[in-house]
Amino acid sequence: MSKGVFITGASSGIGRALALEMGRRGYRLALAARRMEALEEIRETILADTPRAEVSVRKLDVTDFDDVYAAFQEMVGAIGGIDIVVANAGVALGERIGRGDFDKVRKTIDVNLTGAIATLDAAAAYFLAQGKGHLVGISTVVAWRGMPKSSVYCASKAGLAVYMEAMRAELYRKNIDVTVLYPGYIDTPLNDMLPSRPFLIDVQKGAAIIARLIEKRAKSSTVPVFPWNIIGRILKILPTRIIARM
Ligand SMILES: NC(=O)c1ccc[n+]([C@@H]2O[C@H](COP(=O)([O-])OP(=O)(O)OC[C@H]3O[C@@H](n4cnc5c(N)ncnc54)[C@H](OP(=O)(O)O)[C@@H]3O)[C@@H](O)[C@H]2O)c1
Repeated sequence: MSKGVFITGASSGIGRALALEMGRRGYRLALAARRMEALEEIRETILADTPRAEVSVRKLDVTDFDDVYAAFQEMVGAIGGIDIVVANAGVALGERIGRGDFDKVRKTIDVNLTGAIATLDAAAAYFLAQGKGHLVGISTVVAWRGMPKSSVYCASKAGLAVYMEAMRAELYRKNIDVTVLYPGYIDTPLNDMLPSRPFLIDVQKGAAIIARLIEKRAKSSTVPVFPWNIIGRILKILPTRIIARM
């Protein structure tokens, strides 16, 4: 039987493109997000592209933490088992330090960190019981160095990456793979308002790279690998006076 993949944040951008890519590759799909109309449209697009595809969609706000566990279990039943989870849902709200934007700060942590952890934890419970599985999280290259004007975004994604490192160690020898991905700039609504997006790639290319890294069961990787594997290392050692100008 083909593998089942559960993707959060599948209504837009990377999640949507990854759903289409995985559908083409023959995976059974469980897709979740808050916007049901967008999910229905994606299901129709996937079925038009790959008529034999198996696709279930479900409304889910990942900050409704109890519902994350319920949704995961429902999706297991809906597509007949899940082998891979991709904790992809995320926001980049442009919160500024000391400017009274604390609602955005809390929401960023709730979605990008706590919501992702709930997703991965729900999946891990199921994978431990079935004796196999694959946990995938979408972090970012700016998890490697806190950047001005996106402090909480960087912190939320660094937190996710560290949580997943701990998962990899705790689940060692449990036949559960853990993949942490660090995209650079991929063209999606999340960042299309930014004045500069160096080394931008289109979302289909980004999704194809992510699908390949998932199939290789990579432990961690930038997306695309080059040049972000180099830039990420440079970011870590740049002096603050240069980072401050970014
Ligand atoms: N694009 C990039 O260059 C880039 C770079 C590094 C990392 N990333 C990460 O990649 C992931 C996908 O981002 P994207 O670029 O594809 O952005 P996007 O097009 O804005 O998509 C974000 C997705 O997250 C979902 N989402 C947001 N809040 C949610 C919530 N509370 N509950 C459930 N789903 C929620 C949205 O669905 P609904 O609104 O329908 O709920 C949407 O499907 C994010 O984690 C982002 O941080 C992106």
